[in-house]
Formats: sequence, C-alpha cells, structure tokens
Amino acid sequence: MTPTVDSTQARPVPVADWVTIPELHADPFPLYQRMRAEAPVHWVPAVNRYMVTDYAACHTIEQDQERFSADESGSLMKRAMGHSMLRKDDPAHDVDRKSYGGVLRPNTIKRHWNAVFEQNCATYLERLEEAGPGADLIAEFAAPYAAENLRIIMGFHNATQEDLQRWSQTLIDGTGNYADDPDVWAEAERSSREVDAAIDEMLPHLRDNPDHSLLSGLAHLPIPLEAIRANLKMTIGGGLNEPRDALGTTVWALLSNPDQLAQVLAEPSLWSTAFEESIRWVAPIGMYPRESTRDTVLEGVLVPKGARLGVVVGAANRDPKVFDDPERYDINRPKQPHLAFGGGNHFCAGAWVARASVVGVAMPRLFDALPNLRLDPDAPARAGGWVFRGVLQLPVLW
Ligand code: HEM
Repeated sequence: MTPTVDSTQARPVPVADWVTIPELHADPFPLYQRMRAEAPVHWVPAVNRYMVTDYAACHTIEQDQERFSADESGSLMKRAMGHSMLRKDDPAHDVDRKSYGGVLRPNTIKRHWNAVFEQNCATYLERLEEAGPGADLIAEFAAPYAAENLRIIMGFHNATQEDLQRWSQTLIDGTGNYADDPDVWAEAERSSREVDAAIDEMLPHLRDNPDHSLLSGLAHLPIPLEAIRANLKMTIGGGLNEPRDALGTTVWALLSNPDQLAQVLAEPSLWSTAFEESIRWVAPIGMYPRESTRDTVLEGVLVPKGARLGVVVGAANRDPKVFDDPERYDINRPKQPHLAFGGGNHFCAGAWVARASVVGVAMPRLFDALPNLRLDPDAPARAGGWVFRGVLQLPVLW
C-alpha cells in the first residue's frame, strides 16, 4: 500500500510558462536544466502537462501504479492505436504483457533472432557500401535495419520494411497530435486500417504455419482481437524508431568523441557501455504519460488528483544529483542505472531485442565494415524532438 502523505509539508507546483514547444523540440536540455534546478515537477502550459524532470520523482512514479496510473484519460495514443498494454495498469496490463510470451526474451533472441539481425545487418551494410563513399546513416542503414528486424520478429510476412516505417511514423504522429490536425489523423487511421488488415491476414496463416514471431504466438492464444491489434500497433510505434535512434545517437556520439571510439574499438565489451551511455545521454523516448489517481506529494511538491503527468526520463537521465557532469557523453562515467527503458511493470519489453540488435550486431559490424567511418564535415548531423528524440540526419563518409 502507498504510505499516507502529509500534504501540509508540501509546496505548490511552480508554473514553467517560459517553456515552448519549438524550444523543446530543438534542444530540450537547457530547459530541463533550469526546471530541475527549480523543482522536481512543473505545470507547463505549453504542453498542458505536469512535467517531472527529477530522477527520484520519475523513478517513484514508475514504481507506483496505484498513485500514478498508465491509463491516462483523453489519451491520444488510445485514439491512434487502441487500448494497448502501455495504457493499462495491472492486472489487465499483465494479461496483455504475458501474451507476448518469450518472443522478445534472451532465449528466443539467441535461438532465432540473432541470425536474423546478422542477415539484415549484412544486407543493409552492403547497400550502404554500394551507395558510398557517403550517405545519411539514419535513412540508409539505421532505419531500414531496425524496421526489417521488427517486421520479422512481429511476423508481418505480408508487409515490407517500408510499410513498417510508414506505419510507425504515422501512428506515432497520431499519438502526438495535440494540434488535432485532421491530416495527421487521416494518415494514422489509414495506417491503423492497414495494420488491421495485415493482422487479419497473418493470424489464420500462422495458426496453420506457426513460427517464432509475436503474431504466431498471439494466433494461438484466446486473446481478444482488439487487444492484439492495439498491442501490435503500440509495438510498431515503440519497437522501430527507438533502436534506430539509439543506433544513430551512439554512432554520432562515438564519431564526435574519437578518443572514446578508440577505446571501444580496442575493447569490444565497451560497445554495451557506449550504447547504455548514449540512451542515458539522449533517451529515445524522452517523455511518457501517467495520471495521478489522488492528491499526492511527489518529492515535496503537491500534485492534484487527475494531473496529467509527463515522466521526462530524458531530463531525469541528466539529473546532476545522480550523474556527474551529466550533459557530457562519457563512457567512462561511474555506472549508474538510467531510466531510458522506463521501469516498474511497464519496463521496456523490447530492451533485450534493442541491445542484441544494436550492441551485439549493428555497431561492431558497421565499424568493422567501414573502418574509415567519419562525420561529413560539410553536412552537420541534425537532432530533434523531445517526446521522441534522435538524430534525424547523420551524414557520414568512409
Ligand atoms: C533503445 C530502444 C528502446 C527504448 C529506449 C525503449 C523504451 C521504452 C520505454 C521507456 C517504455 C515504457 C514506456 C512507459 O512506461 O510508458 C517501453 C515499453 C515498451 N517497449 Fe520499448 N524501447 C526500446 C526498444 C523496443 C523494442 C525493440 C521493442 C519491441 C521489439 C519494444 C517494445 C516495447 C513494449 C512492448 C513496451 C510496453 C511494455 C509494457 O507496457 O509492459 N521496445 N519501451
């Protein structure tokens, strides 16, 4: 049970009316520094949310679904994708999460998916080399590699990796459509219908021809079609852009810090450190929502019942109370758990897949195949976003 809190000891939530969406999108980190220094939680009118930027406060929220529900009212994600496990609390969440079985877990990765990652990595590296001696590493390698991996793991044998990329982006755009742009809804709805049709076609096929994919596992369970559809749409949105962005940010960080790249090349066990430090430094999912179920106190600040909270792990991961010199990418910093994969009952179900595909395969194979890989001095990399953040373009030469 959650302990009773003494609200007389708490201070009111400060307002951060100086935060704007364009600034958040361009570079949220100076804003996070100012917010964190002032209070763990702010009311931010521009985003219509209470933004939680302090590490301890984000961690508390993740661990306490009784006080902080994932089932947000008025959720745009539910409108765009249906009611997935990500917007449910236990026990309903647990039923959906268990329906994924062992498909995304280390045993299955070792037995089936690592070979798929190797094959896909070889394909897209070959295409990259043919396109050379320069390319945008995101569009030409990271994105198709992440999409093709996810397509096969999910069991969409009737779609292409380009379909997956389009579905992922348009469904995510719907989830963030706070401006209520009808064109954005139209695109998200079109993708939603396409995903439904692809699922409807695959389920009977996989019932007769089972394989190791998510769709195949779900085809053999008595789980409502509505839940299958919502969970798979959420996984298309959550399982593609994040490994793509983690890969892009790690390459960018290492190419920008040649001394650290040299260290990693000399000691391959550091690929993992380089990856974890990169998702601490720039969390691919920078913010996700929760809703308070009662008046409560969070790290000394009074949060009212029904508050729409933004758990800003992108800010928590740079909290100087936890990480020394947090704005710096530094693979030699003391080990300290980051929050980029979330925590508690919604801890990322795809963390093993992300690590295996990026750390185990893509990073070492990329630097091995292109030993002269370097940033293009005439075309700077461009990063963007705050709810989702990553390198949008990474022009490289080799
Ligand atoms: C570096 C890559 C990734 C990052 C940083 C990441 C991050 C996250 C975060 C922060 C959450 C929790 C969000 C919340 O609590 O509201 C989450 C949940 C989830 N992720 Fe990932 N993710 C990554 C890769 C993947 C991949 C590759 C897959 C699928 C193959 C995946 C599938 C999921 C699923 C199914 C959930 C929902 C878990 C639940 O509600 O119980 N993720 N992820």
